[in-house]
Amino acid sequence: MIEFRDVSFVHQNGVRALDGVSLRVDAGEFVALVGENGAGKTTLVKHVTGLLKPASGSVLVDGVDTRAASTAQLSRKVGVAFQNPDHQLFSETVEEEMSFALRNFGFPPEVVRERVSWGLELFGLGEYRRSSPLILSGGEKKRLTLACILAWDPQVVMLDEPTVGQDAIQKEKLAGTILMLKSAGKTVVVVSHDIEFLWPIQPRVVVMKGGRVVGDGPATAIMQDRDLLASARVAQPQLVEFYQELHRRPGTPFVHPLDAARWAEEAMLP
Ligand SMILES: Nc1ncnc2c1ncn2[C@@H]1O[C@H](COP(=O)(O)OP(=O)(O)O)[C@@H](O)[C@H]1O
Ligand SMILES: [Mg+2]
Repeated sequence: MIEFRDVSFVHQNGVRALDGVSLRVDAGEFVALVGENGAGKTTLVKHVTGLLKPASGSVLVDGVDTRAASTAQLSRKVGVAFQNPDHQLFSETVEEEMSFALRNFGFPPEVVRERVSWGLELFGLGEYRRSSPLILSGGEKKRLTLACILAWDPQVVMLDEPTVGQDAIQKEKLAGTILMLKSAGKTVVVVSHDIEFLWPIQPRVVVMKGGRVVGDGPATAIMQDRDLLASARVAQPQLVEFYQELHRRPGTPFVHPLDAARWAEEAMLP
């Protein structure tokens, strides 16, 4: 679905934000992109939407080279909620914001109305229907950009730092939405340094550092690799740290890291 072939990119100020990235994300996969600030995650996301084109190498989306596709063509397939929603919101009202892309993609008026209501409901934004997006909080703006994208039902959904500004309940709903997209067969890419958010939803984890991919594997494997995470300056989930601590004690039976908390709780019962 998404393929990076030895992609490098240098920003205008000379920073090499991607340095020989090769990465393949198949249709229906759920991938988290982690790495410290400046690792190149957002630059990578912008290559999938065609907003940035590689200096060398190539990026293919659904088999099409992003150099040969317009951003309009790509955005029908790839919906991105960017890190800073202020750069994405431009309409007078929340309702209009949600309708805009749908109308542009040619959905009939009744479908537009239906999907707008669905999105506002799902993300708890109904009361703001006729308000300006500018009055929303940071977290609400992020939810609005996500609602806009899901409304046009792209094959690929990319979320850049979606948990920033969200409280615990919203994070839990967001996790639910991601799992729902996954089970609907969407390709989902989440950029996040919120390790505690990622751990329970168990994505394939791609670790970036200095514009390179330095690790790639299932969450259970990557999150237990202390050295890798430390070298990329990514925190370990508390539960995994706890699990590894547990297993340094002799006689601890094998439990899956996802079950560590429950196991410890049961072990402590009288
Ligand atoms: N528009 C830009 N102009 C110049 N440098 C940039 C720009 N965007 C990002 N960079 C630089 O590219 C590197 C990667 O940035 P970015 O992709 O935003 O990383 P991340 O999303 O992992 O924090 C950083 O060193 C950053 O300062
Ligand atoms: Mg970023």
